[in-house]
Amino acid sequence: MVGPVRPTLGAYYSGMLERIRRPGGDITPVLSDRKLDPTRQQATCWSGTLTGYRGPMVPDRYTLAGSDVSIPPLGVGTWAWGDRSTWGMGGYDTNLTLDSIQEAWEASIDAGVTLFDTAEIYGRGESERIIGTMLAHDPQRAKSGVVASKFMPFPWKLEVRGALLKSLQASLSRLGLPAVDLYQIHGPISLRSHAALADALAAAHEAGLVKAVGVSNYSVSGTRSMAKELRARGMQLATNQIEFSLLRRSPETSGLLAACAELGVLPIAYSPIGQGRLTGKYSESRPPPGKRNQSKHPMAIVDGVVAELRSIGNKYGGKLPSQVALNWVMAKGVVPIPGAKNRHQAEENAGALGWAIDDEDLARLDRVALSGVRSLQGRIWQHG
Ligand SMILES: NC(=O)c1ccc[n+]([C@@H]2O[C@H](COP(=O)([O-])OP(=O)(O)OC[C@H]3O[C@@H](n4cnc5c(N)ncnc54)[C@H](OP(=O)(O)O)[C@@H]3O)[C@@H](O)[C@H]2O)c1
Repeated sequence: MVGPVRPTLGAYYSGMLERIRRPGGDITPVLSDRKLDPTRQQATCWSGTLTGYRGPMVPDRYTLAGSDVSIPPLGVGTWAWGDRSTWGMGGYDTNLTLDSIQEAWEASIDAGVTLFDTAEIYGRGESERIIGTMLAHDPQRAKSGVVASKFMPFPWKLEVRGALLKSLQASLSRLGLPAVDLYQIHGPISLRSHAALADALAAAHEAGLVKAVGVSNYSVSGTRSMAKELRARGMQLATNQIEFSLLRRSPETSGLLAACAELGVLPIAYSPIGQGRLTGKYSESRPPPGKRNQSKHPMAIVDGVVAELRSIGNKYGGKLPSQVALNWVMAKGVVPIPGAKNRHQAEENAGALGWAIDDEDLARLDRVALSGVRSLQGRIWQHG
């Protein structure tokens, strides 16, 4: 019997190109050979036949487990708000300003996209500070705003309960809030046990500083373990935020989405439009600016995925590639949180709501979806 072929990353991509050009084709298991990979990145690829999986019908709202926090099926990522090195605020992107952010905030809430995801490390607190300003100056919209933030569990934060509470107090002070709706462990990099992390989250919850708790970048086993530790403390793990998009389908094929569904944990998708790559405005001849390191596939391959998104969007009255890409994420039972730098982007992203691609198109997209790229940093950071 002939075993599975293990071609190089280059062969993986040329196979993808062929499949993209020939919709209806299938894919066989492939794994890259790192020694032959010039970019020193490994493509993790799924195995088996790809079948279109659809999550339960996309609801109007989700309730975060263990709380009464209600969120829409689409949110907004705010990493770019105040960030220079990746997103160019105060740097290469002169159009990204406090005014453009305020417009993104207003347009999002007006379109019902009321979940804002931030973190203590985004812009070294600047993202939270900006959200705090919006909340304070726009009390009417602030009423419907839902804020999710994150604790960075650096390995040197060994006294993790005290460190988490200190970080949380600082986040709340920047946000001007008495509590956050969702507080997430940013990544699985703590040297402390899941029990110690659960203790820290439980202390924050008991103090009334967080309404729901979550993790980010956690594997199947890490998610199960955190859910168990929290359950032992009378709490529920509400969310796991992972990179999930047509450029990184691996959370679906690895069984993480299924495990989340079984545990009642809502998956949240970061970089759902591939850091702008799935919008159609970037291409092989016009690559995105800044150091956007998530699922950095060659743009020639991404162009093929975007062509499919465009073709499917045309069937639905001219939906944009970004809107089809977000619709695909939502169809998988995952809440995407695309970043928006201005009103135009916020309005376009909100246009992913209110309609659904059919099973046939979902399967077409499954066929061109890439499983993701694991950089060295990703190996440490992205377990989910
Ligand atoms: N937990 C984690 O480890 C983690 C990691 C990464 C991100 N996140 C969270 O996930 C959020 C989203 O991920 P992301 O910001 O990395 O990537 P993304 O949402 O896939 O891409 C956002 C970028 O795409 C461009 N864009 C957005 N909407 C557009 C539209 N309609 N048309 C054209 N371009 C558009 C904008 O950049 P340009 O205009 O400059 O192209 C925007 O900053 C972050 O803000 C953050 O909250 C979490």
